Amino acid sequence: MDINWKSLPFGYVKTDYNLRSYFKDGTWSAPEASASEEITLHIAATCLHYGQEIFEGLKAFRGKDGKIRLFRPEENGKRFANSAKGLLMQPFPIELFVESCKKVVKLNERFVPPYGDGASLYIRPLLVGTSPQVGVSPAREYMFLIFATPVGPYFKEGFKPIKMQIVRDFDRVAPLGTGKFKAGGNYAASLQATERGHDEGFSSVLFLDVKEKRYVDEAGPANFFGIKNNTYVTPSSNTILDSITNMSLCQLAADIGLKVERRAIEVDELGTFEEVGACGTAAVISPIGTIVDRETGKVYEYCKDGNAGKISTQLYNYLRQIQEGGTEDKFGWNTLV
Ligand code: PLP
Ligand code: COI
Repeated sequence: MDINWKSLPFGYVKTDYNLRSYFKDGTWSAPEASASEEITLHIAATCLHYGQEIFEGLKAFRGKDGKIRLFRPEENGKRFANSAKGLLMQPFPIELFVESCKKVVKLNERFVPPYGDGASLYIRPLLVGTSPQVGVSPAREYMFLIFATPVGPYFKEGFKPIKMQIVRDFDRVAPLGTGKFKAGGNYAASLQATERGHDEGFSSVLFLDVKEKRYVDEAGPANFFGIKNNTYVTPSSNTILDSITNMSLCQLAADIGLKVERRAIEVDELGTFEEVGACGTAAVISPIGTIVDRETGKVYEYCKDGNAGKISTQLYNYLRQIQEGGTEDKFGWNTLV
C-alpha cells in the first residue's frame, strides 16, 4: 500500500470494505460488507429529491500500544438517531451503530494509520431515504451505509493558527430549522459562504446567530470556543450541531482547572479572548489566529507568536493522548476495536 500517512489530506482514499443495512417492512437487515464503492438508488428516492440524508463522522486511532481505539461512538450513535428523528427518518439502533463502527474498522484495519503520523481512520456513517415518493413525505424504506477512509488534518495548517471570516450575508440554517441535526442539506447551504471564504484566503467562516447576527454560532464544520480568565467559553445555541469534541473539551477543561461556560458569545466579545479555536472530529482543535469581519472590516488577532495558545495546546494534547491511549481514559471514552 502506497500511502504517505504524514502528508495525508482530509480526503477520500479507497479502502477494502463498507457496510450496508436496509430498513424494510419494519426491520433493519444485518449489516453486510461490500467491496463496491457504488450504490443503486431508485430515481424517486426521497434522499435525492427531498434531502432525507443524515450522516456522522468519528475517528479510530492507533495507539502507541498498537491497539485501535474508537472515540465515543455511542455519542455519535445517539446523535445519529436524533438527526434521523429530526428529518422523520427511521433511526438506526445505537448498539448496531457502535457494532458497525467497530466492524468497518476491523475490515479496513490495514488503513488505520500508524501511531504518531498525525493521521487517523475517519468513519462516515450515513442514512438515506430510499423508497420512491413524489409528494413531499418521508420514505418508508431506508439504507444505512458506513465507510472508512484514512485522513490527515481537516485544515491544512494542522495544529497551527487558521484564519476565519465572519459572514453576515449567508446563513447555514434557519432559526427553528435543522441546525441541530447532521443533515447533508445544512452543508449544501454552507457552501457558498465557505467557498467564497476560501477564495478570499480564509480556512473557514464563522456563522453568526441567524436571528440577530449578534452572537457567534459555529465555526464552519466545527464548534467555536474562546478562552479568557481561566475560563473555557462556548456558545449555547439551538442552531448549532452539538459537538462531541466540544462536549469532551468542556470536561477536559474542567479537569485541568478551568471554569466552563456555555452561553451566548457576542461578536463584540471576540476582542476580549486570549485564545479562540474551532473544534470537531475533523478539525480536532484548530487554533484561530485571525478573525476578519467581512462586513465591518474589523480584525481580531490571536496567537501573535504564530503558535497555538497555551491552554488550547494543553487541551489538544490531553484529548489526543486519551484518543491514542497515551494517558488513562478516565472518562471511559474509548471503545477498543
Ligand atoms: N459543527 C458542525 C456543523 C459539524 O459538521 C461538526 C462535525 O461533526 C461539528 C460541529 C463538530 O462535531 P463533533 O465534534 O461531534 O465532530
Ligand atoms: C466531522 O468533523 O466529522 C465533520 O463531519 C465535519 C465535516 C467533514 C463535514
